[in-house]
Amino acid sequence: MSSKHIIDIKTLLDHPEIKKATHNVSPEAAARQKFNPPVCEVFSQPYTTLKDDDQYRFFIDKEAKLKLPDIVDNKVQSIVGGDDPDGLNKKEFTRSRNIGIVFSGGPAPGGHNVIAGVYDAAKKANRESKIFGFLEGPDGILENECIEITRGIVDAYRNVGGFTMIKTGRTKIESKANMALSRETCQKLGLDVLVVVGGDDSNTNAAFLAQELINDGVQVIGVPKTIDGDIQVRDEEDRVLCAISFGFHTAARAFANEISNLCSDSSSDVKYWHICKVMGRVASHLALEVALQTHANITLIGEDLADYVDEERIQKAKTVDHNAYGVTLRHLSRVLCDCIVRRAAVGKNYGVVVIPEGVLEFINEIQVFIIKLNTIIADYNKIHDNHFHSDFQFLDDKLDYLRRLARQSREGKNFQTWNTRDDDLFDQIPEFFQKGLLIERDIHGNFQFSQVETEKVILGLVKEYLNVLKEKGIYKIGIEKRYFNKIAKKGNLDPDVYGPILFDNYSSENYLLMRRSIISKKTLKEVLKKARVISEEESIPGAVETIFNRSVPHFKTQAHFFGYDGRGNDPTWFDCTYTYNLGLTVFSLIANGATGQMAAIKNLEKNFSDWEPIGIPIAALMHLEERKGKLSLVIEKSLVDINSTSFKVVKELRDKWLAATPGPDCYRRPGPIRFAGDLEEDRPMTLLLNAIGEA
Ligand code: FBP
Repeated sequence: MSSKHIIDIKTLLDHPEIKKATHNVSPEAAARQKFNPPVCEVFSQPYTTLKDDDQYRFFIDKEAKLKLPDIVDNKVQSIVGGDDPDGLNKKEFTRSRNIGIVFSGGPAPGGHNVIAGVYDAAKKANRESKIFGFLEGPDGILENECIEITRGIVDAYRNVGGFTMIKTGRTKIESKANMALSRETCQKLGLDVLVVVGGDDSNTNAAFLAQELINDGVQVIGVPKTIDGDIQVRDEEDRVLCAISFGFHTAARAFANEISNLCSDSSSDVKYWHICKVMGRVASHLALEVALQTHANITLIGEDLADYVDEERIQKAKTVDHNAYGVTLRHLSRVLCDCIVRRAAVGKNYGVVVIPEGVLEFINEIQVFIIKLNTIIADYNKIHDNHFHSDFQFLDDKLDYLRRLARQSREGKNFQTWNTRDDDLFDQIPEFFQKGLLIERDIHGNFQFSQVETEKVILGLVKEYLNVLKEKGIYKIGIEKRYFNKIAKKGNLDPDVYGPILFDNYSSENYLLMRRSIISKKTLKEVLKKARVISEEESIPGAVETIFNRSVPHFKTQAHFFGYDGRGNDPTWFDCTYTYNLGLTVFSLIANGATGQMAAIKNLEKNFSDWEPIGIPIAALMHLEERKGKLSLVIEKSLVDINSTSFKVVKELRDKWLAATPGPDCYRRPGPIRFAGDLEEDRPMTLLLNAIGEA
């Protein structure tokens, strides 16, 4: 029997070491809470003022002039520091304010630091100021659900990821009723300012709120948030004002770290292709950054696929062939298969593919379906009391409705968006994908790509075509010559006799490819018989069978989705610093009377010492876009520019990273996210490369 003294569980839980080890706040989280991000030089001065920067101009949409008359003439504003502003500004700067802040849309690492920046600056200017956090997104404004943010709350969330402090939501404030509710809440709380931390749609809402509340004396300031990285601002002359939204760097680094681990795994057990879908509702910025961070074997970039032109088809066409522009799903699967086959030929039956979540948006045939279905659903909702998805709950009901539309179009009963050809094509799509294309649109009318198993659609076609290539004897695993010699000798066979019989490239290459005609043991036996090395009665020599078995490819995949995990990650040093300074910028805009402006930091692509806080006019960024079947004034999303240096570098190194050559792969290990220290790069790689290209 053991002589060990057994300590009871209650005493154990009181043990200081156990208490420390099981505390909710890990040592990493504690260090994060204590970290003070550096601040831009201007914020080390006691006061700041704003200066209109007339050098930046924008093309202003007519509709913006009409709908946002009081903020449409806003200018880009630089924040200037000073220790002795004139009396009036000082009084205004330091007056007590009630500031409301809301997170809107998906979480993005760094949001808590925006609040910390606003809080610190507001309290420094006047300790009486109050900061209210609206709970669960814009619904918190509509229902006046909020908390007063205290120092204790702020301190607990400094440099910590997620939007946990006040949560978020996707409700849109655009209807008259919602505007009225927002006004009511502002009045009840005596708000001087509303800060909207959100993506393109939320900043669009912020501009309309700014216009709506201007006569109430409530200022509205936007903050560019989204891991998708699609809020980027350039002026008319293409000068960068906001290189990226916050959260992008962290999400990309989180995805890259995990994907690079998969690169290690796949090149270790050499049997899987890891298929990694990464978030980014439409634009492929995240995928591009991941490619640069990891050197994964294949990375698809949606914008690049949309740009594809089939020159051969154009040559052959008698008139204009519209189908020559853009990649089809079938074509895309061929391109992927070609890469897989090339790697297999040098013995690499494994690898890592990165697929952007929004890739289907760039595939012509799918885009047409998405647009048509969006219109059909919006049209239905316009004239029926019930929503399309509540009237047609099951896939079969939805398909029946579409068939009815196709029938009406065939019978010539007025123009229909959906015709017989659409219906036939839609019928050929697998059921899970039909369901995906028909899922409910989000509150903004956007198609929800994160809910569609994009990778499954693409993989289905890839697997189908790889089987065809296998049948044709094209898809084979290359056998290292050294290995062949060893096995042949072990089986008492002369490699120089069997080599030329079995392989197409025996004399020339290091990796040997079985003859195309050998696709099974039966065809193998035929080849051996024909070469007279065995007779009808003899069986295939064991060594030859071993080699044959090794040459047969099995395409095994593991699918992964990287998205929600990266959104909740603790921020990188870049995002910690960027967001804290954004918070300080917000306060400078507030304290100097701005409204309808978006806080931003210029020169993010450069060293920290060059960062410049600014205000960007939101109304100037707007254009008309079709939403829910009608034209609406919204902020334009930035897509990957295929002429940018970052994309050109990835394109140029694509073949190298595919590594369809003998020898090691070219994987890069970015390592885990850090928020301090000098082991992590200090800005997104896409920004770094683009800045070099534009210097
Ligand atoms: P935001 O634009 O609101 O920041 O959200 C972006 C995003 O993370 C996309 O990458 C993704 O497609 C989408 O949100 C997922 O939305 P949901 O959280 O509603 O599933």
